[in-house]
Amino acid sequence: MTARNTPRAYGWVARLFHWSVAALIFAAIGLGFYANNLPTGSEAELQAVFATFSWHKTVGVTVLALAVLRILWTMTQPKPRPLHPGRKLELFAAEMVHWALWIGMVIMPLTGWIIHSAAPGGFSRILWPIGQRLPFIPEDAELAKSIGHFHETGWWVLAGLIVLHVAGALKHALIDRDGTLARMAGPADRAPEPPQSHASPLSHLLPILAALAIWTGTALIPAEQAQEPLTTAAQPASGWAVQQGTLGIEVAQGGAPISGQFASWQAAIDYDPTAKTGHVAVSIDIASLTLGAVSDNAKGPDFLNAPAFPTAKFEGDIQPPASEGAPHIARGTLTIAGKTIPAELPFSLEINGSEAKAKGEMKVDRRDFGIGAGYADESTVGFPVTIRFDLTATQQ
Ligand code: HEM
Ligand code: HEM
Repeated sequence: MTARNTPRAYGWVARLFHWSVAALIFAAIGLGFYANNLPTGSEAELQAVFATFSWHKTVGVTVLALAVLRILWTMTQPKPRPLHPGRKLELFAAEMVHWALWIGMVIMPLTGWIIHSAAPGGFSRILWPIGQRLPFIPEDAELAKSIGHFHETGWWVLAGLIVLHVAGALKHALIDRDGTLARMAGPADRAPEPPQSHASPLSHLLPILAALAIWTGTALIPAEQAQEPLTTAAQPASGWAVQQGTLGIEVAQGGAPISGQFASWQAAIDYDPTAKTGHVAVSIDIASLTLGAVSDNAKGPDFLNAPAFPTAKFEGDIQPPASEGAPHIARGTLTIAGKTIPAELPFSLEINGSEAKAKGEMKVDRRDFGIGAGYADESTVGFPVTIRFDLTATQQ
C-alpha cells in the first residue's frame, strides 16, 4: 500500500491518522465522561478524579496535535473519488458529516484546552513537560464556564456525528456491499475503481456550510440558567448598600489553585468617609458556594459542612489607612464552620460621590477552622485559602 492516497483508496498515512485519531477520540470521550461522574467524597477519590482528568486532557491534546498534522497531510493528498457520484443526497450527508468531524476533532480539544487555560487554577495538569496554558487566553472564570458549557454540549454532538459516520460505513459494508470500507480499512486493491465524476463547486460548498451550521448551532445552545449572584444588603442608618459584588475563595487542589464564588451573601456597611472609619458585618450563605467540579464536596461534612454550619461571618471595625495610598483594614473576627478566630481584612477603597468601590482579600489557614481535618496532605487540598471580595456600594 502506498503512503499517498490514490483515486481509489486512502494511503497508509491517511489510514494511520484516521484510526489513531478515532481511537484517541473514543478514549477522550470515555475518560472525560468517566472523570466527570466519579465520586469526590474522599481524598483518594479526589486524587482519582484529578488523575483521570489529567489523562483526559493529555489524550485530548494529542488528538489536537494529530488532527493538525492530519489536516496538513490531507491538504497535500488527492481525495479518493466518490463511488456513487449520482447519489447526491448520500454524498451530501457523508461530506457534511466528514466536515463536521474535521471541525470536531479540532474544536473539542481546543475548547478543552481553553477551559484549562482560563480556569483560575484548573485542577489537574496536562501530563507533559512543555507548558500548560495557551497563549492569549486570559485567566477568566466566566470564559472557562462558557467554553466549558460548549465542551460539555459539544461532545454529544461529536459522538452523534461519529454514530452517523459509523452508520454510513456499516450501510456501505452490509447493505451496499460496495467496498467503501476497504478504502479506509481493508486491502487497497479490494477497493473498487470509482467512476469519473465532476461535481459542481456548490455541491462541495453546501456540506461545508451545513457542518459549520452544526457547530454554530452547538455554540448557541444556551447554558442552563446559572444562579445569578444575589447580593442583598441590610442597611444600617448612614450605611452603604451593596449594589453588586462578588465574594469568592481560592484554594490549591491537586497542586493547582481552584476558585469559586458564593452566590448569596449580605453585607451591612457603616463608613464615615471623613473619619475613614466604620464597621462592617458580612454573612455568607455557605450552601451558595460553587467551586468547580468539587462544589458538593467543599460544602459537605469533610469541609465547610453547610448543613451543620450554614453561615460564615466576618465582623470588624474599619481602621483608616496607615498612610496615603495604603489600604484600609477591617479588624475583627471571622467565623467559619462554627469556629471564630481574629482576622484582618485589608481592602482598597475608591469613593466617587455617593458611590464606593471596595476590593480586598485575606488569607486564612483552613486548619484553624478544623476544615478538611481528614485531608492532612497539602498536595490534595492546600492549607491556605484566599478569601476575596470586590463590591460597589452606594451611600444611603
Ligand atoms: C472518532 C471517530 C472517527 C472520526 C473523527 C472519523 C473521521 C473521518 C473523516 C474526517 C473522514 C474523511 C477523510 C477524508 O476525506 O480524508 C473519514 C473517512 C472514513 N471513515 Fe472515519 N472517522 C471515525 C471513525 C470511523 C469508524 C469507527 C469507521 C468504521 C466503522 C470509519 C470509517 C471510515 C471510512 C470507511 C472512511 C472513508 C470514506 C470514503 O472513502 O469516502 N470511521 N473518517
Ligand atoms: C478530542 C478531544 C476531547 C473530547 C472528545 C473531550 C470530551 C469531554 C467529555 C466527554 C467531558 C465530560 C463532560 C461531561 O461529562 O459533561 C469533558 C470534560 C472536560 N474536558 Fe474534555 N474533551 C476533549 C479534550 C480536552 C482537552 C484537550 C482538555 C484540556 C486540555 C479538556 C478539558 C476538559 C475539562 C476541564 C473538562 C471538565 C469540564 C467541566 O466539567 O466543566 N478536554 N471533555
